[in-house]
Amino acid sequence: MMKILTVVGARPQFIKAAPVSHALAEAGLTEVIVHTGQHFDAAMSDVFFQELDIPKPAYNLEVNSLGHGAMTGKMLERLEGAMQVEKPDIVLVYGDTNSTVAGALAAAKLHIPVAHVEAGLRSFNRRMPEEINRVVADHVSSLLLCPTQTAVANLAAEGITEGVHAVGDVMFDTTLAAVKRAEGRSTILERHGLTPGRYAVATIHRAENTDDPERFERVVAWLEAAALHSAVVMPVHPRTGKLLASRNPAPAGLTLIESLGYLDMVRLVSQAAAIFTDSGGLQKEAYFHRVPCVTLRDETEWVETIEAGWNRLWTDDGYTPRKEIPDFGDGQASLRIVDLLKAL
Ligand code: UD1
Repeated sequence: MMKILTVVGARPQFIKAAPVSHALAEAGLTEVIVHTGQHFDAAMSDVFFQELDIPKPAYNLEVNSLGHGAMTGKMLERLEGAMQVEKPDIVLVYGDTNSTVAGALAAAKLHIPVAHVEAGLRSFNRRMPEEINRVVADHVSSLLLCPTQTAVANLAAEGITEGVHAVGDVMFDTTLAAVKRAEGRSTILERHGLTPGRYAVATIHRAENTDDPERFERVVAWLEAAALHSAVVMPVHPRTGKLLASRNPAPAGLTLIESLGYLDMVRLVSQAAAIFTDSGGLQKEAYFHRVPCVTLRDETEWVETIEAGWNRLWTDDGYTPRKEIPDFGDGQASLRIVDLLKAL
């Protein structure tokens, strides 16, 4: 029987892996989940496994809170060990984190085919650690599972045309599966006294925004200005939380709350008037709920959301006219992925 070894480690990967994991089980394939340990707080990791019914990882490599070299290096060594024990037929990696690149490299060096979910995304900004991770992961992958036609074209421009498939966006699968459950189970609006349609949601966590104090100040000042017009609720990533806690004066007008589980986040975003974020996933989730987004970055990989008028960069003046984005698919991306894995 075919054995898939899935590498996850950071919050967005749990969200992307959930529907694929369910589809693998339904198709009767064996999946061994390896958690690198990159995200380790209960609120950044465990809650996603519980709420999204992801099987417990067979391994937790406990690699976290290190610089890029040390983190990727330790992951590479420990992932290689797990892959040598498990001898999978395919290694499945997601997105663009250090866990992604370590999983892809470890497998490629052991001559195990790599399948990359969310292949082909490019910001064309090589100063982002994620951009390096994406390029490297794509170039050692055998199966490139693209969420959009733009991603397919980006790969073609780098000479990658074999094993490339536009399958739709797995995060849309996850969102569709969670919306009803979030309505029934999340108490996030009640806990924070929020009225649907009367608040914006902000998130900041990208190294490019947090690591340069001047840049971080510009972002916080932008959010403070936005908070003059509407309530701004900000679930905080651990690193951003530390920075904001030590900021003097405290950010004005922003309601800082704990980092949220998936169901709380789905409900919070679905009822928001606007999203302000530097997250890649949240730009799409804003569109899935048809909530307008402002991306607090100078470029985005998710150009479709800008072209379709649901998103704009903070440097842009306004939105283009709104339309639908068919690329993200029909909520069946994970089924297509499993079919392609079976065929590999
Ligand atoms: C990582 C990914 C980023 C992704 C993000 C999703 C890389 C290079 N970056 O960024 O692409 O968008 O995940 O959230 O892989 N921390 C905790 N508790 C946790 C997790 C992190 O305290 O559960 C702290 C770490 O100790 C560290 C900081 O947050 O000081 C940053 O964590 P790290 O894993 O290096 O990267 P992220 O910023 O989360």
